[in-house]
Amino acid sequence: MRKSIRFLNEFLSVYRSGFKNNTMTVALYFIFSSIWIFSSDNLLSLIFKDPKIISSFQTIKGMAFVLFSSLFLMILLYNNFSKSLTIQKKMEVKLLEDRENIHSKAELYDLMSGYLLEGNTDVHDLLVNIFHFIISKVPESDYGSVYMVSKDKVEFIDVMGYDLSTLNSLDMDPKQFEMFTFGLRKNEIAEKKLEMKLGPEKYKVYSKHNPPIHESIYIGLTAMDDLKVGLSIDISKKTYENKKTTFTKQTIQELKDLQLLLTAMFRMKANVGIKNILQKDIVNSFIAALEYHDEYTKGHSDSVANISIALGKKLGLSVDELQELNWAALIHDIGKITVQKSVLNKNGKLTEDEYDQVKRHVLIGEDFLSKSDSLVEISKFVRHHHERWDGDGYPDGLRGKDIPLYSRIICVADTFHAMTSDRPYRKALSNRIAIEEIISNREKQFCPDVVDCFIELFC
Ligand SMILES: [Fe+2]
Repeated sequence: MRKSIRFLNEFLSVYRSGFKNNTMTVALYFIFSSIWIFSSDNLLSLIFKDPKIISSFQTIKGMAFVLFSSLFLMILLYNNFSKSLTIQKKMEVKLLEDRENIHSKAELYDLMSGYLLEGNTDVHDLLVNIFHFIISKVPESDYGSVYMVSKDKVEFIDVMGYDLSTLNSLDMDPKQFEMFTFGLRKNEIAEKKLEMKLGPEKYKVYSKHNPPIHESIYIGLTAMDDLKVGLSIDISKKTYENKKTTFTKQTIQELKDLQLLLTAMFRMKANVGIKNILQKDIVNSFIAALEYHDEYTKGHSDSVANISIALGKKLGLSVDELQELNWAALIHDIGKITVQKSVLNKNGKLTEDEYDQVKRHVLIGEDFLSKSDSLVEISKFVRHHHERWDGDGYPDGLRGKDIPLYSRIICVADTFHAMTSDRPYRKALSNRIAIEEIISNREKQFCPDVVDCFIELFC
């Protein structure tokens, strides 16, 4: 009985997803064929009375019917074949786009992590590299520039299409450079704004060597207190008139995302190592950067923090202790920013190398946080959030109460939320199954005291 219900369900789902049209065609074929056979026989016997003549017509009619059926079958098969070919082609294109996407994000990550982790990377070099990264990803643009605005000067450091020496010789006024976080200017507005910014004399010199612009996207960033940087990605009037090129919605969205990410990166760089700065700001910057890197993290940090706080309250932690636990839980996976996106989102078993890369996130997280005086205290909780009560965890194989309490709490909260969320390789488990899993791992993976509180909260 169960088998027949399953078969019926499978049949209905195939029927709904495309089989429906074919079934309709076969049904029509059946109806028309039956009508034809029935009416043609009657027609023949009405016209011809001699059974011999009727019999010879029957053969011709039968042959014609077989021919018609074969033709019909061929059309049906060809139709299905061309449909599946189109689907296959679409899938191949999608696969290529996904690969390209992963590759380009990894490239950006390399630039950012180089700047964040290796103290010797120069802002100047970083900006040039980011500029080249952007123009390679925005094929519709044909002009662009990257510049630094300090208190007393505007320095163009790289360009595409423009004349770099002319731009720098104009000695532009920094006060005229209102720094947008993000802006899109179209038609004459881009050009008029530039004319206003430069004044008539300088604009004359500028336009001698540079073409009029049709559309511009500006990205403004504060790299340091006294240093702002701007990126301008442009489409010239000529290109617009010849090819009707404009920025696509996807490009605009991707550049907006990039602006957020770069802002987070500069804030992280500026904050790391500075004493007594707002912990909240740094943590938020870290999370913003991580969320950009790993889609799954969106909301995960908040949920782990909420569950951890609820567990901490049950365990009787003080307000100050809960505050500290909150920061540690919010930022526990920050080290994942250095794990390649393709590994984080892999739909299948990780190789040994990939698993090693994932395991390193706890050490990198600790390293990041230990550079900030206000976060160094919580770095050890981040280091140990994948230890197990039975000593089989990583990175140090700590056992029992040698594992810091906050790490034991975060471990339960993290595992529970991970199990009840959709992952690239599986659908979310139900709360009931996840709770059973936590309970069955009491004193194996998890601290018994924390699991007891968890049971009180969720069962
Ligand atoms: Fe983790």
